[in-house]
Amino acid sequence: MALNIVIMAAGKGTRMKSATPKVLHKLGGRALLSHVLGACEPLAAAARIVITGHGAEQVEAAVASPALGFVRQMPQLGTGHAIQQAVPALQGEGTTLILNGDVPLIQTSTAKALIDACAGGALVLLTVDLADPTGYGRIIRNADDGGVLAIVEHKDATPEQRLIREGYSGMMAAPTGALKRWVAQLRNDNAQGEYYLTDIVAMAVAEGLPVLGIKAHNETEVLGVNDPLQLAQLERAFQRQQADELMRAGLRLADPARFDLRGALSHGQDCEIDVNCVFEGQVSLGDDVRIGANCVIRNVRIASGARIHEFTHIDGEALGASVGAGALIGPFARLRPGAQLGDEVHIGNFVEVKNSTLAKGAKANHLAYLGDATVGERVNYGAGSITANYDGANKHRTTIGNDVHVGSNCVLVAPVTLGDGATIGGGSTITKDVKPGELAVARGKQVALSGWVRPVKKR
Ligand code: UD1
Ligand code: MG
Repeated sequence: MALNIVIMAAGKGTRMKSATPKVLHKLGGRALLSHVLGACEPLAAAARIVITGHGAEQVEAAVASPALGFVRQMPQLGTGHAIQQAVPALQGEGTTLILNGDVPLIQTSTAKALIDACAGGALVLLTVDLADPTGYGRIIRNADDGGVLAIVEHKDATPEQRLIREGYSGMMAAPTGALKRWVAQLRNDNAQGEYYLTDIVAMAVAEGLPVLGIKAHNETEVLGVNDPLQLAQLERAFQRQQADELMRAGLRLADPARFDLRGALSHGQDCEIDVNCVFEGQVSLGDDVRIGANCVIRNVRIASGARIHEFTHIDGEALGASVGAGALIGPFARLRPGAQLGDEVHIGNFVEVKNSTLAKGAKANHLAYLGDATVGERVNYGAGSITANYDGANKHRTTIGNDVHVGSNCVLVAPVTLGDGATIGGGSTITKDVKPGELAVARGKQVALSGWVRPVKKR
């Protein structure tokens, strides 16, 4: 039996007060609509249709994929009108699942339960008991057997109906053929002058078709985003879900309320994360990795036993970054795209590393810059030293052999190569290659002026 999935995402989202279409606002680093699409992914559907309207081009570009069809709804005359636009795209006589692009935390299992209960024959509504159901369509049930009779929108409800706490989540599964027939008959003579999809419930009841209400497991799953306040509340709920899952898998979080993951985090055994850390993109941790407080960590692989001390910023971006086993990073270190650090590398405070490879045991402990460099094993890179990798037009490489000692406050003007075991005197500006084992000193010679008298203040 063919399954259609229709996601309504044409609404304006006026209360977000934003130039960005509502369904593209981010939750856990991903667009709201992408969360819904993700939940649908495991469901084998003949057609997946997103109804767009406000900001249609932007929305379609943001989530485009060969498996998705888009239907434009212009103007937006209500949820029933939205589904009317999708009718020509619906396939077969099976089930059509209808979801909302601004209800991001819907679970695959719940969607599946709606589809299974529908089985192409019943109209199945996802409902939820709410402490405050203001604004929601109310589920009207038969006093005798509890059967669903209708949905009445909040604005059309009588004071008595408004006391009902069971609300319609906005999500349903309907027999496709019947759905097409029903939406063709919708009228807009109601409080909002809109075509309400919810009016099909009374039509199904009138036709004698079974109408079922399935209750959501938790409220979070059916909460929609209408304003920045609700977005922030859902963000916290989502972050808590992720944190709980990670902790159940053995990750130790100092405080799950002060943990943010905007992407995917994998980890081995005995990893610990202190408070106020933000993880983005793809981050993987080996075993026994410790991350200090206030780190921002994006797109990086961190091997076992590494220590990332407080206030470190790692951004592997597209190139990625990696930190070797037993490495010590920070506090206040910055690793940028293409930083590939070997085992037991030390990167200390106010050290920036970009597009550079550091071999095992190399150290840059204080106030330094390594950009476009290849650094050998056991190199000691002194405080205040930098690679001058940019000539104003092009980037050049610096190659540093094994066991090189670069003194403090050196400038290595790339392209330049320092051979194995070379030593660079502190304060040198190196513009020529240095042979293995050589000492290079390139700075003004110190002069001693005896008999010199310090000036004194004139009276
Ligand atoms: C809808 C339901 C209400 C339910 C509530 C749950 C109707 C008539 N009412 O009300 O029973 O309790 O959701 O949140 O369906 N949309 C379009 N085109 C339109 C109008 C809306 O695509 O012309 C989309 C919106 O982008 C949104 C969804 O449909 O994703 C719901 O629209 P919204 O305006 O939020 O409906 P509610 O009034 O909240
Ligand atoms: Mg709404």
